[in-house]
Amino acid sequence: MGPIEFNKKRIFLLIAGVLAFYIVFHGLSFSSTDFSDVASQLPIPNHLTPTEHKLPPSAPDPDEIWDLPSEPSPVPVPVPVPEDAVTPDAPVSAPAVQHFDLHPIAQLMENADAQWRAYESGVSTTFRQTVEKYRSKYGRHPPPGFAEWYKFARKRNVFNIDDFEQIMDDLRPFWAINASEIRIRAAHMWEKFDFGVAVMHIRSHKVVKVENPSWRSETMEKVIEKFIDHLPDMDIPMNRLDQPRVVVPWEDMQQHLRVEYDTRVMPPEVMDSFTKDQPELRDMSILDKADDHSTRLDDEWLFAPGKQYMKIAAKGCPPESPARSNMSVAQADSLYKEPLAGFVTNFNLSSDLCTIGPTIQDMHGMLYSASSIIASHKLVPIFGECKVNVNNDILFPANMYYQHDDRYDYNDKEDLDWRDKQDTIVWRGVTSGGVQLADNWDRMHRQRLVRLLNGTYMGTAAKEVTVLMEKDTGPEKVNTTYEPYERFRPSKFIEQHSDVGFTEPMSCIPNCSFYNDYFTWVPPVSLTSQFKSKYLIDVDGHSFSGRWHAFLQSKSLGLKATIFREWHDSRLLAWRHFVPVDNRYDDLYALLTYFIGYGKPYKQHAEEGVELNPQVFIAPHEQAAQKIARQGREWANKVLRREDIEVYMFRLLLEYGRLIDDNRDYIGYSGDGSELDKFDAGEENDGRWGIGGWR
Ligand SMILES: *[C@@H]1O[C@H](CO)[C@@H](O)[C@H](O)[C@H]1NC(C)=O
Ligand SMILES: *[C@@H]1O[C@H](CO)[C@@H](O)[C@H](O)[C@H]1NC(C)=O
Ligand SMILES: *[C@@H]1O[C@H](CO)[C@@H](O)[C@H](O)[C@H]1NC(C)=O
Ligand SMILES: *[C@@H]1O[C@H](CO)[C@@H](O)[C@H](O)[C@H]1NC(C)=O
Ligand SMILES: *[C@@H]1O[C@H](CO)[C@@H](O)[C@H](O)[C@H]1NC(C)=O
Ligand SMILES: *[C@@H]1O[C@H](CO)[C@@H](O)[C@H](O)[C@H]1NC(C)=O
Repeated sequence: MGPIEFNKKRIFLLIAGVLAFYIVFHGLSFSSTDFSDVASQLPIPNHLTPTEHKLPPSAPDPDEIWDLPSEPSPVPVPVPVPEDAVTPDAPVSAPAVQHFDLHPIAQLMENADAQWRAYESGVSTTFRQTVEKYRSKYGRHPPPGFAEWYKFARKRNVFNIDDFEQIMDDLRPFWAINASEIRIRAAHMWEKFDFGVAVMHIRSHKVVKVENPSWRSETMEKVIEKFIDHLPDMDIPMNRLDQPRVVVPWEDMQQHLRVEYDTRVMPPEVMDSFTKDQPELRDMSILDKADDHSTRLDDEWLFAPGKQYMKIAAKGCPPESPARSNMSVAQADSLYKEPLAGFVTNFNLSSDLCTIGPTIQDMHGMLYSASSIIASHKLVPIFGECKVNVNNDILFPANMYYQHDDRYDYNDKEDLDWRDKQDTIVWRGVTSGGVQLADNWDRMHRQRLVRLLNGTYMGTAAKEVTVLMEKDTGPEKVNTTYEPYERFRPSKFIEQHSDVGFTEPMSCIPNCSFYNDYFTWVPPVSLTSQFKSKYLIDVDGHSFSGRWHAFLQSKSLGLKATIFREWHDSRLLAWRHFVPVDNRYDDLYALLTYFIGYGKPYKQHAEEGVELNPQVFIAPHEQAAQKIARQGREWANKVLRREDIEVYMFRLLLEYGRLIDDNRDYIGYSGDGSELDKFDAGEENDGRWGIGGWR
């Protein structure tokens, strides 16, 4: 097979397609600039956004049917009888004055809804569309076995057949590395046990061996078995550590991405199968690695436990980013935080170490006191459950989300209806996150949280935090507006509303006795009992938190602060499915007081002197909280199921299988998708698969 002629028209179409997608996906993602645009728009009663026009008029969006009272709406639409902002003595028959709640969260929620509608409305409904979209987005044919994967996914009612963005992003740079090099690295990466890598070997559609196995690889095996008949022989290296591994310097990564872009081809006809008997896969007939004289490549692992991770991570950042320029904290904040209370406007950037790294490098355990860091600046293939944004590890769905484990599995046994839940924020855990010493523990992310939500500590230390209080604009008030109040004393508020504490210490040097003066070890609360609280906060441990899926599935509201990226990120929208929290938690009290409410309306400021913050009034916005909780739950039940994990893994390994194939440019699916017309019409199935899994 010779090089492929690539005619100009094809290139033009490809570029046009890529551009169109760029506009659709990036044009709608909101930055703080978009945010102020939306804020300044005049709301029109019952207005529709352009994407809403696409919804069939008689079929309301099922996600919009809440059995909630019809107010107060969190979006700036007129509020007929605002429970919170009501002026009790206003004449009932007065002409309807339109009240607007101009809180930033209301606007963030509305933006997220618009983003979500755009996400949801463009989804392919047939194999033809899926294939077409694949080509226009990625400039290549789909990998071999794509039709089988498509059927597998449809049978499992996958919601968005197009959104495997994370896989494509993770694998893209590897197109710059030739297939044989990837195979060589993958075959031997397990050989030095201390480097913390397991390797799964697949031969003739069976997992024939796992080197350095663990419960993680056992779970992964169970997932892979569901579709192993469609996979080529491969070696899959898996991270055995909690911490991610690969940081390719930004300049090198640009080169890799350039190569990937320049080598995109779509030959008219390609083979829809993987190449057999490729060299450089590990020779499974050799039992002792000492007898294996095949080529090895140095993965250049460097050991840096307890070192400042930003020293390694900053290399992966663009030169103009805060991590590599001398941008001030305020400037960096303005990239992803709203100005009044620091609410996160861009969750992606709120965990982007290039943006937040300089600010939080001494405030997160993994960043300055990690128990193990074995990293490489070379682009080596390694599959991992989580990473930070600068890592080039290949993400796969965390095994914890797949296996059944009471500590992490959602169970509705003790989940209550929202109104029966307590107005509390709950958190339990151990002191993980990094190696702790007497003089560094108070900067760790979990420890900071447990202190911040400890009323006794906040009171005795006379801590003050920022909240957004309602502006007292007098009796003629039309809209509810807010202003920051930076001297809020939270101790009493949080005493009433927090159930937070460590269950036990771990990872201290020389021992954990230094904690005795600061923390009380509290009884564990099972995952399911935590659902008695309305507010569930999720923060990192040594790495990502395995509770997140269960939190989203519950009827409570998930709040999330993290520096880690996971497989599901592109399908979860902050402010629609959960509430994002800054890794510094400087927005946390403004969030909690917004949802729970605080104080008495201004004219009833009778308790002056008794209350800690007599001047502060914030009406509760329970229904906004309940709405996000509910959306998150419904969404998790559609896109974070075990079936979704199987579909993701299958797709990931098809893409990986092609990348490690010497003929990777000449294999794939080159048809127009028509052979699955009948399948899509439900003729080869028990009935038409529910589009997007609505049923
Ligand atoms: C693959 O890459 C390696 C290292 O970059 C190089 O030595 C080798 O010649 C390449 N092989 C092919 C087939 O291009
Ligand atoms: C950093 O700050 C110095 C002095 O304020 C300035 O001259 C320099 O250009 C800045 N460097 C970057 C990379 O922004
Ligand atoms: C109330 O807010 C709406 C929406 O931002 C705005 O159009 C209106 O002018 C405001 N009304 C007053 C009296 O400020
Ligand atoms: C813990 O470490 C401290 C400080 O080194 C030491 O004084 C103490 O005896 C140790 N406690 C235990 C139970 O080992
Ligand atoms: C809360 O803070 C106080 C004062 O610092 C401390 O004595 C107590 O143990 C803390 N409670 C918990 C649950 O850690
Ligand atoms: C997150 O931001 C990075 C750049 O900072 C971008 O490359 C990536 O596509 C974004 N991801 C999502 C899901 O928006």
